[in-house]
Amino acid sequence: MDTSNLPRPIRRPRRLRRTAAIRGLVRETHLTPQRLVLPLFLTGGTNVSIPIDAMPGHARLSVDKAIDLAKKACELGVKSFDLFPAIDPKKKTDDAKEAVNPDNLLCEAVRGLREAVPQACLITDIALDPYSSMGHDGLISEKGEILNDETVNMLAEMAVIHAQAGTDIVSPSDMMDGRVEALRDALDEANHHNVAILSYTAKYASAFYGPFREALDSAPVDAPNVPKDKATYQMDPANAREAIVEALLDEAEAADIMMVKPALPYLDVIARLRSISSLPIAAYHVSGEYAMIKAAAKLGWLEEERCMIETLTSIARAGADIIFTYAALDYAKWYRANGV
Ligand code: PBG
Repeated sequence: MDTSNLPRPIRRPRRLRRTAAIRGLVRETHLTPQRLVLPLFLTGGTNVSIPIDAMPGHARLSVDKAIDLAKKACELGVKSFDLFPAIDPKKKTDDAKEAVNPDNLLCEAVRGLREAVPQACLITDIALDPYSSMGHDGLISEKGEILNDETVNMLAEMAVIHAQAGTDIVSPSDMMDGRVEALRDALDEANHHNVAILSYTAKYASAFYGPFREALDSAPVDAPNVPKDKATYQMDPANAREAIVEALLDEAEAADIMMVKPALPYLDVIARLRSISSLPIAAYHVSGEYAMIKAAAKLGWLEEERCMIETLTSIARAGADIIFTYAALDYAKWYRANGV
């Protein structure tokens, strides 16, 4: 074949893809383990580890076991933890009052971790669902309405007891209106002005939370006058502009960090918030997103390591500074081994 007359492009982007060294030189996104947050599920007792079926590699841990894991994670460079308590079903009530008990499992875990792993950043979830016999993030009226202002009042109390126990960051995941301002006021009033607020700014009514609800046994219960889903407070997956409405409110209410959740199906929302705000943006790579890759890998249909790295990198590329992920430790190990 005569190739002398072929067109010869002068711009050749492939020049910068030619070797691993050159690709490393021009790589735009570097995701280091210190930007990852590892969620931990807690249970009572000591030396307890109850595996969570749909979240391979994760278990409900007693506080001593959670401390061991947090120490190991810190050594690998993952120093931030998001704490979720699996509350004893006997302590779940309609009014979720265990949420504001300063000696509850969550506060006990914060005190234990604070003391044993002082270098860790502890993040605590603010919502009523782990404590509610209804499985909702808020209080429910007799007619089945999720009560906004009454719930916010309780969430503010929750934030203060978490701060007293020693948390660094409180993280309202409930999607009630006005909660960031209420939390800030309550924390400041109690002299906890250094405790930061990471707001779930755009949390969608997603089907990808399934494995998490199994872990905490926290799905909405099937009972008369209990809404079957969280659609009256979590956002409609079809909406992106509405995330900006939420973001402007959260900034005005003095949120320190804003979160989008889930992550992969909402990369456009992460990118939009990144472009309209200068606050750090977090994304939550949720339980179902993790379980999908794990399940496909188990069937031999996907390469777990490459898919997980590609997924987390894309979330960072979209604009997330911080990523909550169940794959945090795996990523830190791959990072150490290969320098991804
Ligand atoms: C509840 C809460 C949920 C998650 C974090 N906090 C579930 C829900 O809203 O029903 C989901 C996390 C995950 O799926 O990994 N306030």
